[in-house]
Amino acid sequence: MQIKKITSLVLAAVLSISLAACGNKQTTAVTSGQDKQQAESTQTADSSEAKEPESTQAENKAEVQQTETDAENESSAGNNILILYFSADNTKDVDAVSSATPMTDGTASVEWIANIIHDNVGGDLIPIIPSEDYPLEYEELADYAKKERDNGGRPAFENLNVDPAGYDVVFVGYPIWWYEMPMIMDTLFDTYDFSGVTIVPFNTHAGSRDGGTYGDIKELEPNATVLDGLAVRGEDVGKDSTKEAVLSWLEELDLE
Ligand SMILES: Cc1cc2nc3c(=O)[nH]c(=O)nc-3n(C[C@H](O)[C@H](O)[C@H](O)COP(=O)(O)O)c2cc1C
Repeated sequence: MQIKKITSLVLAAVLSISLAACGNKQTTAVTSGQDKQQAESTQTADSSEAKEPESTQAENKAEVQQTETDAENESSAGNNILILYFSADNTKDVDAVSSATPMTDGTASVEWIANIIHDNVGGDLIPIIPSEDYPLEYEELADYAKKERDNGGRPAFENLNVDPAGYDVVFVGYPIWWYEMPMIMDTLFDTYDFSGVTIVPFNTHAGSRDGGTYGDIKELEPNATVLDGLAVRGEDVGKDSTKEAVLSWLEELDLE
């Protein structure tokens, strides 16, 4: 009887240990389930977080696409316009477009106008850069240019990297030299066929106005439309009133 009691006690103890073990296992299982749920919900949160960047990415992509479309529209509108300009200051050594316009002694006055045009109508702004630099000292340049004219020179210029014939509108800027366009402009019109292009001349001068050069361009490019140009006195370059004059001329051209 004593032995039976001990056996039942041992059995009871074993049973309770087993039950306790089961209980622990279940708890562990529940805990694991919670972990999984938590993990799942974390993952869901993670994946929704991961989705957020995706949607942000999508938004960004849409924005980028929109920006690209805007840029395309802008450049397709802008690409129709080319602004070519020559000034003795245009040299290979200096980035004539991005360098600050030196407004000393009326030099680079053509570039000043070209920049205003570009700021307002967009398009491609390209300096005509002579393959051989011009002397910049006035007397020296005057002699050099005179000889070039007398010899019927056709000075070369650096590759424009564009074909003016591919544009609807080409602004062409230059100073008056010896009552005419610098000879390098003749090289330009000899080199390219502007048929079907609308040419808009602009120039600086010290009293000769356009010097009849707009008519000369018409003769050189009979199949182009040559609009009324703008002649600006070199000494008026840089003035607010001159900028206003350039802007109202642009408005009158009604290029839209
Ligand atoms: C070689 C040379 C010849 C010039 N000949 C004339 C001319 O015949 N008539 C005139 O009005 N201005 C003449 N000028 C003045 C320029 O047209 C004027 O200074 C212009 O603003 C220069 O432009 P840029 O600074 O962009 O080169 C001449 C200037 C130079 C350097």
